[in-house]
Amino acid sequence: MPESPVRLLSPRLTVLVATKDEDGTTRAVPFSWVIPVSFQPPLVMVAIQKGNKGTLPNLRRTGKFTVNLVSSGWAERAVKCERVKHPENAGLKVKSIDWDVPVIEEAGAWLACKVRDILDVGGDHLLVIGEVVKSDGEAKDTILHISGERFVRIGEEVRISRHLNL
Ligand SMILES: Cc1cc2nc3c(=O)[nH]c(=O)nc-3n(C[C@H](O)[C@H](O)[C@H](O)COP(=O)(O)O)c2cc1C
Repeated sequence: MPESPVRLLSPRLTVLVATKDEDGTTRAVPFSWVIPVSFQPPLVMVAIQKGNKGTLPNLRRTGKFTVNLVSSGWAERAVKCERVKHPENAGLKVKSIDWDVPVIEEAGAWLACKVRDILDVGGDHLLVIGEVVKSDGEAKDTILHISGERFVRIGEEVRISRHLNL
């Protein structure tokens, strides 16, 4: 089967979305269909496959999550979370913040969010809109997801003038 045309929109940031399971443990799994959708209020969107049995029910139940930016130094452990679900089982640590859901200690940057909406736009993913209530850190050495098992490290930063003062 040919690759879906939406795969052309890559690479994208790789993040771990952390949520609380019913037993109070922290679940964190990788996502890359994650984009900003508003400056004010600060809103982000995570597209989650319909039928997701972990993160989505947690988001519906608790309304809270954190988005943790993955760096290349711990990317393999982050990807392992897809299978093992809990960061400790992938050799990662969780760190409490002043929010119901912790962040991943290894993450150089994170955003704590509350669910604002979950939209069904008729595709095979649901659009989870999160309002950022706090954030910290800087995106450093981020690893971008192309598709499947293909990733790319962020390269050299370049400046391109937009001539906005003209
Ligand atoms: C790098 C990477 C990016 C992913 N991006 C997404 C995504 O944006 N949306 C999605 O629904 N699943 C995505 N997945 C798959 C989920 O991580 C996978 O379905 C996971 O098992 C969901 O866990 P959960 O059921 O505990 O929520 C991605 C997986 C990897 C490895």
